[in-house]
Formats: sequence, structure tokens, C-alpha cells
Amino acid sequence: PASNATHQDGRLQLKPLEGVEAAKRAAAYASVDNHIKPEHKIIGIGSGSTVPYVVERIVQQGPKVNLHRWFIPTGFQSKELIVKAGLPLGDVDSFPVIDVTIDGADEVDSSLNCIKGGGACQLREKVLAESASTFIVIADYRKNSTILGEKWSQGVPIEVAQFAYASVMRRLEQMGGKPALRMGGGAKAGPCVTDNSNFVIDSPFPESLMKKPAELSDRIKLMTGVVEVGLFCNMAKAAYFGNQDGTITSKYAGGEVKE
Ligand code: 5RP
Repeated sequence: PASNATHQDGRLQLKPLEGVEAAKRAAAYASVDNHIKPEHKIIGIGSGSTVPYVVERIVQQGPKVNLHRWFIPTGFQSKELIVKAGLPLGDVDSFPVIDVTIDGADEVDSSLNCIKGGGACQLREKVLAESASTFIVIADYRKNSTILGEKWSQGVPIEVAQFAYASVMRRLEQMGGKPALRMGGGAKAGPCVTDNSNFVIDSPFPESLMKKPAELSDRIKLMTGVVEVGLFCNMAKAAYFGNQDGTITSKYAGGEVKE
């Protein structure tokens, strides 16, 4: 978003966006406009490529309100976003109770259960989602589904202690998963390491298991060595999906859908 800004007549102008970026921005703006009110002082900021538009919109609320708030990041990327935007940076140690957390998702089903962790931030993201009175999910139209796994074929991200990854993978296979250890990107050889120094396993599961994500999450979480599971069940109050034309599809806990 920063590179999308130009200055004309001394005023910040935002260039219009197309396609997926327009969708991400529309979802992010709707979440801020509907859920971050002047009385909200502690705000959780999630991770991924949609969340920068959340910060962009929050900045537009102005320093008068923002300098009396604390912004809590879910990882290194969102910490950088907060700092670069000049917003007050807090942490969950100081602020274990959060008013609103807004975060992206890799896929969201019709009951607002989510797959998260495509950016390997699922542990901190879940702590901030659980600590928030209101947890809101934002995504572009590609993430809106009915059963988890329909669209995000990479599988459920599972954060594991480094020492335990092989043993957890074996147990995931025994319950019907197809686990793969996530590798670091680009020139970096070796496994992806999270902000908490753990590894991530991505495991697709058969539809029969994905249909009951809370049960699946509980089963995986019980495995020794598993730190957190990227299934966020019964947590979100609302999900906003941006469409390519900049309109929004909203889904609410309880099943209501607004096009
Ligand atoms: C990171 C996440 C992200 O929120 C998720 O991957 C969505 O990212 P994007 O907004 O880039 O689609 O869970 O761990």
C-alpha cells in the first residue's frame, strides 16, 4: 500500500487498485469502518498481504484517535507495519485483553471457521484472536468457501516443536493426513522457521475430517510436540470478502450473509 501512495497538492492520494488488490483493500476498509470505533483502544493487527490495508485505513482515522491507542502485532511483519505507520506498538504481555483483532485468512467456511497460517503466524494469530472481544476476518473472494480444504489445497498449517516434527508427521499420516514439512522460501535451504523458532507442517486431510474442523483441531492439538493448529473454529464474529469490483460479501457468526 505504501507504494500505492502519491502526493498531489501536498495531500496523500491513493491510486485506484484493480482485481485482487482492490478486493483486499475493500475487505480491510469494511472491517475497520464497521468495527474499529473511537472507544477501541487496544487493537490486534494480523499478518499477510490483506492486513496492510487495515493499517492504511486505521491511519486515515487520524493521530488524534490513534495516539491514544495501542496496536498489538501477530508477528514480525505486522510489527513492522505498525512501526512504519507511526502507530503506538504494544505487546500482548502488557495488553492481554484486546478490543478488536482484524486478521487475514487462507480460507473461511460458511460457519466462519478458518484455515490460517499460510504466513506461518498461526500461534501468535490465535493468541490475539482469543484475547480479543471481537475477532474479524478479512480476505479476497478466493478464500470464501463452504467446507475448509475446498480452496486451500495446501492443507492445515500445524506449528510443531522442531524436535518433534517427524513423530507428529507420522501420527498425522496415521489419522489420514498427507503431511509435508514446510520449507523456507527462495534461496533459503531448509525448513521454514516461525517467529517462535518452531517448524510448520502442512497437512491436507480427507473431506470427512475437514467437515468437522473443531474436532480435527482438538485431535491434532493433543499430539505431543504440536504447538498450535491453524484451524480457527468458532472465533470470528464476522468475515468480509472483497470482490474484484470493490464490493463486499459479508458473513456473520450465526449464518447471515450479505452480498
Ligand atoms: C498468516 C496468515 C494470513 O493471515 C493468511 O495467510 C492470509 O494472508 P493474505 O492476506 O496474504 O491472503 O494466516 O499466517
